Amino acid sequence: MNILVTGGAGYIGSHTVRLLEKTGGKVVVYDNLVTGHRNAVKSSIFVEGDIFDSTLLADTIRRYDISSVVHFAAYSLVGVSMIKPQDYYHNNVVGTLNLLDVMLANGVNKLVFSSTAAVYGEPETSPITENVLKNPTNVYGRTKLIMENAMADYSRSYGLKYIALRYFNACGADAAGDIGEDHQPETHLIPLILKACLGKTDTLKIFGDDYPTKDGTCVRDYIHVNDLGQAHVLALKALYNGHESDVYNLGNGSGFTVKEIIEAAEAVTGLTAPKEIAPRRAGDPAVLVASSDKIRQDLGWQSEYTDIKNIIDTACHWHKKNPDGFAG
Ligand code: UFG
Repeated sequence: MNILVTGGAGYIGSHTVRLLEKTGGKVVVYDNLVTGHRNAVKSSIFVEGDIFDSTLLADTIRRYDISSVVHFAAYSLVGVSMIKPQDYYHNNVVGTLNLLDVMLANGVNKLVFSSTAAVYGEPETSPITENVLKNPTNVYGRTKLIMENAMADYSRSYGLKYIALRYFNACGADAAGDIGEDHQPETHLIPLILKACLGKTDTLKIFGDDYPTKDGTCVRDYIHVNDLGQAHVLALKALYNGHESDVYNLGNGSGFTVKEIIEAAEAVTGLTAPKEIAPRRAGDPAVLVASSDKIRQDLGWQSEYTDIKNIIDTACHWHKKNPDGFAG
């Protein structure tokens, strides 16, 4: 298995790379370092490149005899996608179509694709199964749904074999403490709470306390980044074993409100985060909780991290060890 990992210097990408390497596969990380970190790539071959650079992509595929791609390189922030839709359509749709063109032109037809719970919008049923109606409430989710549909068409017409993984809320960090979540600027809940607890940021804003949930704050399904990464390993192996194109949810199946996550993080750190109620953030659905039964049954996936405090503790370990992230 010679695997090209686009976005392999990013948060989920770097954790997945480590797990792919443990299987003995040769991993080539391809990343433009716009949001990724060179220091997050520890032992793999690294190519600094953009998914729009067809020549470099094709050269890399040929040079390293690549037979599959795990595609993380994308913008992924719900809030920002509502303010800068052009960036999201360009990078996530046009960029991914370009990658698919280069792959197919060079005989690579296996792809594991980062999709998202944001494709669903606000389904009436919870936990969410893969087959419910998809009606994204934000631009980010729409760009990923467009690509899922395009890949289904490419699968029928050009023999593409893909597995799309719809991530719920990725969090935590590898126990080694040398890779973790480091976004600039940081917008994700758990790192922001930890930074607030550790006195590294200002007051934490709780975006809305008037949602139809038990305490009025949004409910999400938080899944450890290594459990997400392991699903990519299984998906890739399945494709090499002839698995047909398919789509899977990836979450823990438990929903936590924003306030519950704050309480859990405060318990883990023993510190209190300064916080205030702020207006809702555009594009946020009230509740997103996954059913991951399908990937358990089909690919034998299991989550290792089920306790939210354990998950937060791994993130806390990373933040304490690397107070300035990869820059330190
Ligand atoms: N939140 C706050 N204050 C903050 C940051 C977040 O209240 O300062 C709230 C949000 O409103 C949301 C929840 O915490 O209700 C989680 O927000 P995140 O920004 O951490 O994550 P999102 O749910 O917006 O999005 C994440 C990924 C997406 C992915 C989605 C799937 O960033 O790529 O999970 O559920 F699509």
